[in-house]
Amino acid sequence: MSDTFTIGGDLEVRRLGFGAMRITGKGIWGPPDDPAEARALLRRTVELGLNLIDTADSYGPEVSENLIAEALHPYPDGLVIATKGGLRRTGPGRWPRDARPERLKECCEGSLRRLRLERIDLYQLHSPDPAVPLEDSLGALKELQDEGKIRHIGISNVSLDELERARELVDVVTVQNRYNLAHRHAEEVLDACEDADIGFIPWYPLATGDLARPGGALDEVANAHHATPGQVALAWLLARSPVMLPIPGTASVEHLEENVAAAELQLSDADLEGVAASPRGRSRA
Ligand SMILES: NC(=O)c1ccc[n+]([C@@H]2O[C@H](COP(=O)([O-])OP(=O)(O)OC[C@H]3O[C@@H](n4cnc5c(N)ncnc54)[C@H](OP(=O)(O)O)[C@@H]3O)[C@@H](O)[C@H]2O)c1
Repeated sequence: MSDTFTIGGDLEVRRLGFGAMRITGKGIWGPPDDPAEARALLRRTVELGLNLIDTADSYGPEVSENLIAEALHPYPDGLVIATKGGLRRTGPGRWPRDARPERLKECCEGSLRRLRLERIDLYQLHSPDPAVPLEDSLGALKELQDEGKIRHIGISNVSLDELERARELVDVVTVQNRYNLAHRHAEEVLDACEDADIGFIPWYPLATGDLARPGGALDEVANAHHATPGQVALAWLLARSPVMLPIPGTASVEHLEENVAAAELQLSDADLEGVAASPRGRSRA
């Protein structure tokens, strides 16, 4: 299976990317304890050859995007920064939705300014808003695309029905839903993405670190490959589909390096089946 995927037909990325949500303060609120360390971590992602960084205006809010620009602008050729809009932040751990067209346009303008970009390569609707017709939210993104402010449109936290409706309205190039070895209820959305060659970005790829902890069902396979449980969980994701684009998040350079090395891990079919059938892999919660 290729270790790259081409988003929207023209953005070739390494399939293992980086999620930049964890470089903010506790509760994804405010600045991190050590902003210089966060900037060094971001520079290390690029040194390691990663070229897909996922962020959102709501991470901090604004903190994650500002750190990315401070650390990496002017951006190296081929670096794809995927950001999102359509949520508000009202406090640590609080994320009310607001995907009204005027709000999405405001979010996008803010992201362009903070990221110091004239056009965002991949702009994602963070979540459909039950108070706003999907047609209106995506209509706003289409207008931003027509104005040249965003290159490609992605969607996040969608059902299969919402994906199908979205595809009638705009050219959807990625879907970002929660998916990992222990949480697989997005399976049918993933299959639909694979059929249509749409990138699938699984958030919580390590189940917020739970799958990276030793002492569980992944240990046996991990030990046999001189790897860690987290690397096995990421290698399983990469093997699950050629459109899979995991974006593990971390605030630690050591964990980043370990996660990147997971892309080199080759698991046998028996390993993959065993891992998928393990107690951690069986839950569909
Ligand atoms: N679209 C959405 O609604 C949505 C929602 C949530 C997240 N996301 C995106 O998805 C990305 C990934 O999600 P996530 O960061 O929340 O969850 P995750 O990648 O499943 O797990 C991150 C957690 O795992 C730990 N971790 C990472 N690598 C590790 C390793 N090698 N060994 C041990 N622990 C490790 C991290 O702690 P350390 O810092 O200590 O390494 C962190 O607490 C986010 O950064 C964000 O870009 C999107």
